[in-house]
Amino acid sequence: MALSPGDPSSYARPDHVKTTHIHLDWDLDFDKKILSGECILSMEKVDNGVSCVLLDCRTISVSSVIYEPTGENLTFKIDGETSFGSRMEIQLPSGSEKTFKLILKYSTSPECSALQWLSKEQTAGGTQPYVFSQCQAIHARSMLPCQDTPSVKASYSASVTAPLGITVLMSGIRKSDETAEIWNGKKKFKFEQPIPVQSYLIAIAAGAIVSKKIGPRSHVWAEEAFIEKAAFDFADTEAMLKTAEDLCGPYVWGEYDILILPPSFPFGGMENPCLTFATPSLLSGDKSNADVIAHEIAHSWTGNLVTNCNFEHFWLNEGFTVFVERKILGRLHGEPYRHLSGILRWKQLDECVNETFGPESPFTKLVVDLKGIDPDDAFSVIPYEKGATFLWYLEELVGGADQFEPFLRAYFEKFKPKSISTDDFKEFFIEYFSNVEAIKDIDWATWLYVSGMPPYKPKFDESLVLECYSLAENWRNWNPDYPCTFTGSEIKSFSSAQIREFLNSLLVGSALLPAVVEKMENLYKLSESCNMEILFSWIRVGIAARWEAAVPLAVKLVTDIGRMKFLRPLYRDLYAWEAKRQVALDTYTANKNQMIAVCRDMLAKDLHISQ
Ligand code: BES
Ligand code: ZN
Repeated sequence: MALSPGDPSSYARPDHVKTTHIHLDWDLDFDKKILSGECILSMEKVDNGVSCVLLDCRTISVSSVIYEPTGENLTFKIDGETSFGSRMEIQLPSGSEKTFKLILKYSTSPECSALQWLSKEQTAGGTQPYVFSQCQAIHARSMLPCQDTPSVKASYSASVTAPLGITVLMSGIRKSDETAEIWNGKKKFKFEQPIPVQSYLIAIAAGAIVSKKIGPRSHVWAEEAFIEKAAFDFADTEAMLKTAEDLCGPYVWGEYDILILPPSFPFGGMENPCLTFATPSLLSGDKSNADVIAHEIAHSWTGNLVTNCNFEHFWLNEGFTVFVERKILGRLHGEPYRHLSGILRWKQLDECVNETFGPESPFTKLVVDLKGIDPDDAFSVIPYEKGATFLWYLEELVGGADQFEPFLRAYFEKFKPKSISTDDFKEFFIEYFSNVEAIKDIDWATWLYVSGMPPYKPKFDESLVLECYSLAENWRNWNPDYPCTFTGSEIKSFSSAQIREFLNSLLVGSALLPAVVEKMENLYKLSESCNMEILFSWIRVGIAARWEAAVPLAVKLVTDIGRMKFLRPLYRDLYAWEAKRQVALDTYTANKNQMIAVCRDMLAKDLHISQ
């Protein structure tokens, strides 16, 4: 069945008719694990000759579609499932209006790929069940029938009922939660997102969630057990918001709250408007993972105001966001820190290009071809880091931040709140810098369409990492048959990021001997680190060294946390260690029912399990 000419991941035809507002009237049924109710799409014809509306959906059952203004029932059909879900075709009445509403009565299924339902036993508090959504890239279609393409933006409003004791949150402004109506043993929550947003930004979470104010426009939300830690770790949120505004222009979304999800949340953070979703694995007790919050804040401009028109241009979302994230961090913690962040992620880029995908892989291009490909399969650090590197290069080329930062603001001004392609960016850049001779040197074709590492590596300031490298070198050179001169104090003055870089540099090149890793553990006690990033890198160093003690640590981490950034490399590492392959497979089997669909599916692919 034909996919959209403008978006290879969607059946919708926004060139025929587009959604201008979505109203959701939902009820959450935790026993059945379904969300049911109505989705009212306000639509406007783009092509007056159109006789049907095409929507995306997946594992959804629709019982009726009503046409407003007349109230008549419309005929519709839903085609079979593909990896892009199903195409839903709704026949419009003859003589239909230019603007109209479609009222769809429907329910999701327990297989809904956007939602994860947790029993109360699976939560930290153990008193209430929980549900949360993750719609990016193309899972919104499993939560509501819609034009599930980021080229369509609509404002939304919602009214959600849930059993008493449950707090419902969505990616909009909360209305009426103090006076929420209580009816029939249920409580009703209302939300409004007045700014037009793409479908993947519609988000919901519900459970025994409490809040704490952390700034003039910010709360953290979490289960009781995490709330104080979260308030501490994210105490710098307002400073980050102000810095971001200084760089990008006013923050237009009103509130900026952060929700700490249950551990099975598959990402580090998700930029749901007004309410960033974050993994509890960011909570380290020392604010050292707050860079993820800087990243999600940056999305308030890059991604949420100026949006990729489809996921082939995902680097416009993530590359720009990493670039702005680093500028926020640089302003708050100093330029060397900005560079340190670049250095850390350059290694991840290298691993992804040269090992995970291979330098010839089409997935290592900045702009990818997603015809017939699920965006989840193409997801990697490449759009993030190759994208941010491209912008770093462009900034240098045009003469530095004094030239480039005003361009960034002009770019937001020009394109908000639109969805754009790489060519839109390119054209605007060339026009803006038409007086700058040097831009003639840009090899756009290589940057955008050639696979492999970027054609340029920034000259990173290595002042913060030289010590890490020399310590790593000393460990590499130590022969465990000789006396050990390390004392344990070597890393005392290192920041978390420096410890990570120390460990990551041990992951490049030949593996350490297990006895060396053992000694390092005795001295540095890295397996007890409260920082999940450090623990993760440490376990990888251990697995590479074939250090037996790393295996139970890996199994524990992948059991405790569902963040794919940790799970996928650890599962792949264990799988690649032949003697431990079965451990990887058994651990997956034991845990897969606790995972959100995307994570379960991606790991099955990584572990070569056919489903
Ligand atoms: N928008 C992404 C998460 C995402 C991307 C979900 C594609 C689904 C499909 C989010 O902003 C993100 O990039 N998170 C990173 C943060 C990191 C780069 C600081 C993460 O989860 O690790
Ligand atoms: Zn992002």
